[in-house]
Amino acid sequence: KRPAGAPDKSLARPVTKVGVVGAGLMAGQLALLFARRLQVPVVMTDLDQERLDKGVAYAHGEIDKLLAKGRISADEASRFKGLITGSLDKAAFADADFVIEAVFEEMAVKQKVFAEVEAVVSAECVLATNTSSLSVTEMASGLQHPERVVGFHFFNPVAVLPLLEVVRGGATDEATLATAFAVGKQLKKSCVLVKDAPAFVVNRLLVRLLAEIMAAVDEGTPIEVAERATAPLGLPMTPFTLLGLVGPAIALHVNETLHAAFPDRFPLSGKLAKLVAAGKKGVYLPDLTLDPEAVEIFSGG
Ligand code: 3HC
Repeated sequence: KRPAGAPDKSLARPVTKVGVVGAGLMAGQLALLFARRLQVPVVMTDLDQERLDKGVAYAHGEIDKLLAKGRISADEASRFKGLITGSLDKAAFADADFVIEAVFEEMAVKQKVFAEVEAVVSAECVLATNTSSLSVTEMASGLQHPERVVGFHFFNPVAVLPLLEVVRGGATDEATLATAFAVGKQLKKSCVLVKDAPAFVVNRLLVRLLAEIMAAVDEGTPIEVAERATAPLGLPMTPFTLLGLVGPAIALHVNETLHAAFPDRFPLSGKLAKLVAAGKKGVYLPDLTLDPEAVEIFSGG
């Protein structure tokens, strides 16, 4: 018997070609995952040739790393590379059954991208968004077929982390959900069906954690102490390393979305905004004056 809310598997449509909009780091990771696990052609697209070439080269480079580690054979490596191509023209998506966008986190940009994709694909082609926090319902609202839009939210590093949040938008139909779950399974991800709430589920926890750690540092807690204080939580990496992995700009974006939705529960992190304004991309390591007593207290427990 199907668990409550789970889509009817029999409604899933086959996926024989995938489109990836965007050629940034996330898009490159997605292209690799889809090519490797679905073994179907994956076309990437972006606004300019330089970015596109970089995105395709990233995916190909990751395939080389898998080969060097002995995770895939030389045959597989050349097959996967052959599956991943780039095109500046979205018309290359015409025969795609599943298109995922991983472009800039701005509603108007994502709506425009989906409208452009809708103009070239079939009425059944699934349009998936990897947004971290934006409303899937709103993103689909101006389309002719909003029922084929679904949230497909991956976690960094995409190749390693098993969770996939599948977001049911207000108009998402059963066939789209069933296809999304079938694709998620082929990608070897554990899919959870989540509501179209601001930042879904995982990022609400994550941004709260990062913002509180930064607030503690702002209040004068040395960064090492703040990092050590998370040891009992058993996190796989420290919060500031995680911030470097996710990127301060994305973390701030999620923070802003949550602040707009729940201002009392999610205050805006001034520290995060400053990091982004200063153009910091990686791990934040300010000048420290370590307080030995505080370290003692935290390392003792
Ligand atoms: N990209 C690709 N692969 C990576 C990677 C990266 N950035 N970092 C590590 N890996 C791979 C390694 O190559 C290794 O693969 P292998 O088994 O084939 O050799 C595997 O991951 C394990 O790596 P390590 O043994 O070196 O290191 P760890 O055991 O410490 O694991 C980690 C690394 C998986 C990154 C772990 O530290 C972790 O899970 N960190 C937490 C990450 C996290 O919380 N991500 C969620 C971020 S939120 C998000 O993305 C949502 C967005 O909307 C903001």
